[in-house]
Amino acid sequence: MTEPFDIAFLNGRFGALSSLSLPVLDRGFLFGDAVYEVVPVYDGRVFRGDSHFDRLQHSLDGIRLDNPLRREDWNELLANVIQRNGAGSMAVYLQISRGAGSGRDHRIKPGLAPTVFAMAMPLADRSAARKKGVAAITADDIRWARCDIKSTALLANVLLASDAGRAGAEETLLLRNGLLHEGASSSVLIVTNGSVRMPPYSHRLLPGTTRDLVVALLAADGTDICEQDIPEQELRHADEIWIASATREVLPVTSLDGKAVGDGRPGPLWRRVNELYQRCKENGGEIR
Ligand code: PDD
Repeated sequence: MTEPFDIAFLNGRFGALSSLSLPVLDRGFLFGDAVYEVVPVYDGRVFRGDSHFDRLQHSLDGIRLDNPLRREDWNELLANVIQRNGAGSMAVYLQISRGAGSGRDHRIKPGLAPTVFAMAMPLADRSAARKKGVAAITADDIRWARCDIKSTALLANVLLASDAGRAGAEETLLLRNGLLHEGASSSVLIVTNGSVRMPPYSHRLLPGTTRDLVVALLAADGTDICEQDIPEQELRHADEIWIASATREVLPVTSLDGKAVGDGRPGPLWRRVNELYQRCKENGGEIR
């Protein structure tokens, strides 16, 4: 009897997670020389897969690694992982590392066989977070200068997210030179005077598939929404703050560094965006 979400894929083979192993010289292990995606699946259906595969290509280009699979092969792999893990709701994690060399050498050598890994993960129940909102803290963004690449080299994110965990918060919002960029594992949007604001894309933050969907949904709904620098003071005085990611969807932040955001409850624009988001899920990811 296998555990739920236990069947994973590694380099052409499916098996129980505990039965799969990698060479210790894999560059993903030695250097974090790898990129990844997390794709949500609702009732067995992939949610907006193309946006994840487009970003995966951006990440692979960013680390100069050829895509080992064609789009149709990725889709087939995803379908296979979903099927073998109960075809319900889940997140599928995909990772490609540069593979194992003959020793430890920083420099990239051509011709290595990349390692392709995929596994299914349960989606956490977020209903309490939707009802009450979540807490966030702020911290200096101590990450590298290519945060637009979804790299598995996540040590800074791991430390920053753990600071939130220790503070009993859901997320750490990252400030660099006095400006908000994103969360340790989420995009961040704020609401000021009825307008939705978010930091412009740059090498300092990840292009978020959920954020992009939120933008499309709100634009179609007639909400004023734009990219602009968000200074720390604007963040601290925002009427609403949202975090967005493929696994969390859009969550309202109702306390920041221990102080209430707005009136301390999920705000009206968050309620609207959540409604649009849930409807989009029911429509199989279509924006109507
Ligand atoms: N993280 N920014 C960072 C640093 C992230 O790690 C993530 C997602 C996002 C949001 O991207 P998307 O909306 O495409 O999920 C933004 C994933 C879920 C993770 O690392 O588990």
